[in-house]
Amino acid sequence: MTDKRIAMVTGGMGGLGEAICMKLAAMGDTVISTYSPTNMKSEQWLAGMKTQGFSFYAYACDVTDWKSCEACVEHITKEIGPIDVLVNNAGITRDMTFKKMDCVNWNVVMSSNLTSVFNMTKQVCDGMIERGWGRIINISSVNGQKGAFGQTNYSAAKAGMHGFTKALSLEVARKGVTVNTISPGYIGTKMVMAIPREVLDSKIIPQIPMGRLGKPEEVAGLVAYLASEEAAFVTGANIAINGGQHMQ
Ligand code: CAA
Repeated sequence: MTDKRIAMVTGGMGGLGEAICMKLAAMGDTVISTYSPTNMKSEQWLAGMKTQGFSFYAYACDVTDWKSCEACVEHITKEIGPIDVLVNNAGITRDMTFKKMDCVNWNVVMSSNLTSVFNMTKQVCDGMIERGWGRIINISSVNGQKGAFGQTNYSAAKAGMHGFTKALSLEVARKGVTVNTISPGYIGTKMVMAIPREVLDSKIIPQIPMGRLGKPEEVAGLVAYLASEEAAFVTGANIAINGGQHMQ
């Protein structure tokens, strides 16, 4: 693909998402971030990015809601163009032991982390097939691979993302579209820093052979690779980036 590509990153204003937006822009893509309609700071974020030399687009989208995703992608297609690279990055945690887990915290994590992938991918996949080129990159988690204390909801959703990746990658393999999962370990973002400090220090960091959290830029570099022309033969993969914490 030689033209300037259009890349959409869901939840692109968060720690990981922002680094991904920056990296894709540095590769020459036109970059769109979606943000939750309840996020009042999108203008501020866009302005802050501008001062760093990044001209991003931002669209409100509730990734848990089919109609919102449909309307969002329709607007983007009309106003900017069709999406060539989709990074399904939006996600949340609602950590609690299974004993305390209720339907509300189960459902909200499943819809934000997993149903969202269906909702967004469905809007862009047919267009990618018609144009004969596309990249779908799903940001999962080491905890979808190994499970995590307090995360029956999140681990199930993140593991489900990779099942989705494998199935869809088979269906589109001959159409120029690749579908891959990235499973980051513990990255120094707001989501991870919300873990109680003593749990992080006593239970989590000691299990990371590198003895440190990952950096958002390290994950962004992998996204950029999967989005590139060079990665055309990589599909249905689940690539770990976790400092050696979990090896499959
Ligand atoms: N492994 C083993 N035991 C653990 C544990 C762990 N990871 N985390 C907590 N425990 C133990 C505690 O030591 C404690 O043991 P004792 O009763 O013997 O003292 C017991 O479980 C209860 O722990 P809490 O007092 O913390 O219980 P709580 O109900 O207040 O909170 C919790 C439970 C919400 C799960 C909390 O422990 C927590 O937030 N843990 C971290 C969960 C986690 O790792 N989340 C990852 C978020 S980042 C992310 O998800 C990004 C990504 O993709 C990697």
